[in-house]
Amino acid sequence: MAKLGVNVDHVATIRQARGGTEPDPVTAAAIAELAGADGITVHLREDRRHIQDRDVMLLRRTVQTHLNLEMAATDEMVAVAMKIVPDYVTLVPEKRQELTTEGGLDVVKYKQKLTSKIDLLHQAGITVSLFVDPDLEQLKASARAKADYVEIHTGTYCDAKGKEQVVELAKIEEAIRAGKKLGLGVNAGHGLNYQNTRQVVALRGVEEYNIGHSIIARAVLVGLDRAVREMVELVRGG
Ligand code: PXP
Repeated sequence: MAKLGVNVDHVATIRQARGGTEPDPVTAAAIAELAGADGITVHLREDRRHIQDRDVMLLRRTVQTHLNLEMAATDEMVAVAMKIVPDYVTLVPEKRQELTTEGGLDVVKYKQKLTSKIDLLHQAGITVSLFVDPDLEQLKASARAKADYVEIHTGTYCDAKGKEQVVELAKIEEAIRAGKKLGLGVNAGHGLNYQNTRQVVALRGVEEYNIGHSIIARAVLVGLDRAVREMVELVRGG
């Protein structure tokens, strides 16, 4: 059965809108865990637009499941990760102006740089995942770079409509099979919601889904406990 990692970045987005202390993503993480989340994910961005260093430090001490830190493959972020030692680091590309992570990492192009960052993170005992598009060459390069996991970018599938969506789903299916064949653990995420997650879950083979925006958006209307429980049921194939 697949697991659910709840991304609490957007709880911090609301807090940062007023620059105050509420709502606290640390409290949200605890509620998500009580509702059945298998892991907590946060993206510490270079510009600190939502999650702050303080959040990651507190989450390291309070998360009872596992903590997945999404971050850019920069020297600054690797130093943060080596200090905090999350259970997982997911390396993502980061552009300053983007609203959210726009595409997968180009592991083929940056393999050397990524390999050295992965090596440092491994030395600190951190399991490393690379956020990649469902593309065979990127998966092969991820295995060669000694990543433990890939997280397949589901955003294009989520944005697609009709026949195009069927094509994108098939790419994800192929990527899941290829990743496993290469000996990689396979996670997935980005853009998944209460309407489009079931089809990906039906493909089977994804270990953990990282889902944020749709859960926090629903939580605003129905409460976080209910929003997480409903997504847990979906990813477990209910
Ligand atoms: N996975 C990765 C690597 C991401 O960067 C994000 C967004 O922070 C997510 C999953 C969650 O995406 P969403 O908020 O669209 O569910």
